Amino acid sequence: MLHWAILMMSMLLEPCLCDSIKLGTLYIGQDGGCDAKPVYKFPYTARSCKEIRDKYAIHDDGLYYLTTESGVLYQTFCDMTTAGALDAGGHQQGDSPDRPEGDGTWSNRVIFGSAEAATSDDYKNPGYYDITAQDVSVWHVPNNAQTEEWANFSILRYHTETSFLTSEGGNLYHLFTRYPVTYGTGACNINTGPAVPIVYDVGNEESTLQLYGPNPRGEVTPGFITFRVFNYEKAAMAICSGVKPTGCNTEHVCVGGGGHFPEGGGRQCGDFTSFDWNGYGANNGWSATREITESAIMLFYR
Ligand code: G3P
Ligand code: CA
Repeated sequence: MLHWAILMMSMLLEPCLCDSIKLGTLYIGQDGGCDAKPVYKFPYTARSCKEIRDKYAIHDDGLYYLTTESGVLYQTFCDMTTAGALDAGGHQQGDSPDRPEGDGTWSNRVIFGSAEAATSDDYKNPGYYDITAQDVSVWHVPNNAQTEEWANFSILRYHTETSFLTSEGGNLYHLFTRYPVTYGTGACNINTGPAVPIVYDVGNEESTLQLYGPNPRGEVTPGFITFRVFNYEKAAMAICSGVKPTGCNTEHVCVGGGGHFPEGGGRQCGDFTSFDWNGYGANNGWSATREITESAIMLFYR
């Protein structure tokens, strides 16, 4: 399915940048050539949401088109308050055996999904590897929320302010190349990636804790976003949203695992590896609340 989506994109959208310098406009020619009759016209050409905001004085949140360095056009959601561009959205799926394991998505250039459907299915756009950013914003948005509802419906929203990406290669693609999300390549609390303090936009440290199960609350410190952690069994996870793990059952709070999860004989897998260990949405034992289990995590670059 994902490969079909990529093929459709490359067949339908052939950017022609001929007029963009003069007009500040990106035309999409039907045949791809610069003489082709424009069939789509996008009023802004930019590499980032910040550029759209600053260059064109556009301040409305919403869906915009950006171009990569090599001219690939893609749609993203811009949070114009912070000038952040959505680059990935993970759909929280609990125990999901049909999720491809070890697909390397955190450190490859494979894209999938669409910005508009980022609360309904997995999403990753070229901005993930193309944009150079200093910080991230993270939104936890209830499943199936419409784009215009994302900001207000978020159950948790925060951002970083330390410019940590600058020393990690400028984006998450480079960060996860340095810290691969790969089973067996490190140990719990020893080979953890960056743990970055966060500033809350919606929620606080206490409300963050309450989203996760009672048991993991005793194994984390809220007020951080942590990248690439390992659990007791050396299974790797990409992001611990809102927390820094202090214990080693990270599978109940951290998401985006890669490869193998030895504990539980197959019970731990998927993006939300073990949020449902003591029942789906149960908020009991190790299980997270239904609220966070049924929300997408959206990653923005700032
Ligand atoms: O991650 C929790 C697991 O390691 C232990 O689960 O069911 O024995 O409390 P349980
Ligand atoms: Ca465990």
